Amino acid sequence: MNLLRKNGVAHSSTRSVSTSTNGPTSHVIAVADCLDTLRKLPTGSIQLVVCDPPYNINVAAWDDMNQYVDWASKWIREVERVLAPTGNFVIFGGLQYQGEAGSGDLLSLISWMRQHSPMLLVNLIIWNYPNGMGAQRFFANRHEEIVWFGKTPKYFFDLDAVRQKLSPETLELYKKDKRLNPESLDKGINPTNVWKITRLNGNSKERVGHPTQKPKALIERIVRSMSYEGSTVLDFFAGSGITSRVAIEEGRHSISTDIDPQMLKYFGQQIKQVEMFNRDYRLIKGNDWSSHPAFAPSADAPSIEVRDRLGHQVPSLSP
Ligand SMILES: C[S@@+](CC[C@H](N)C(=O)[O-])C[C@H]1O[C@@H](n2cnc3c(N)ncnc32)[C@H](O)[C@@H]1O
Repeated sequence: MNLLRKNGVAHSSTRSVSTSTNGPTSHVIAVADCLDTLRKLPTGSIQLVVCDPPYNINVAAWDDMNQYVDWASKWIREVERVLAPTGNFVIFGGLQYQGEAGSGDLLSLISWMRQHSPMLLVNLIIWNYPNGMGAQRFFANRHEEIVWFGKTPKYFFDLDAVRQKLSPETLELYKKDKRLNPESLDKGINPTNVWKITRLNGNSKERVGHPTQKPKALIERIVRSMSYEGSTVLDFFAGSGITSRVAIEEGRHSISTDIDPQMLKYFGQQIKQVEMFNRDYRLIKGNDWSSHPAFAPSADAPSIEVRDRLGHQVPSLSP
């Protein structure tokens, strides 16, 4: 990175995509098996896949299956196909589940992808939470992992959208360090790949009833940095529907599906919380998704103009 910077060249992860959105965003909310959802989607139509899969650890009835990695490899292959060249893929999970109950964990998926997928591992994000279970036979666990893959080296990343503001006192202190860029410091600092975000408690206001619902702040950071306004975010293990809630609030289109019909009820609760954001959006329920912008990429996709940090245009990224 330093060498690139010295030569005035932007790393592909620092390029920006400027787009515009007109009219309401569209959101498919439907009950479907993950593979059925993926097979319906056009090639190159998705900017971001948020994937929080079952891990065979019996947290619920859906979390128990044979041949876990074989099954997962089928949806990973489909993700590769539906992602745009600027696309990103995040998978939630843990590294400590193997052998506890089932046959799969995040390590098995990363290992499978290393051997079989051309996608690039960009970061392993550590989600560190202060609250959790106690333990006697090992150190009590206080983190989960989120692995981020870019579809190609042109993956989109908007660091400015997620910079962390410094307090006036810290800003003043940091600015004395001549090695640091004062302009970047004003914008805020890189939140790093260790994210301190509290897990939802039983009585959290965000809770809509799903047993493994992720905090909104976590999904927001992913959506803001890895997708852009008017692009489509896909979550085919949607659970509580939090990804579509965030997509509505952030001006992205979304497709959220889950095999469990309860998802429709959970999403109803999400929507009640979203109303205060005064965003213009429309919901697409049922099986006909043809009016969603992901199905008309050439007609409805925002024009994508990619520039490096010096403002030079880089080659077109149409799928
Ligand atoms: C870990 S949870 C996702 C939680 C979600 N990220 C949230 O924050 O609310 C996994 C979800 O996968 C769903 N699921 C399990 N097997 C599935 C399948 N074959 N196709 C689609 N969804 C499935 C379950 O119903 C469950 O809601």
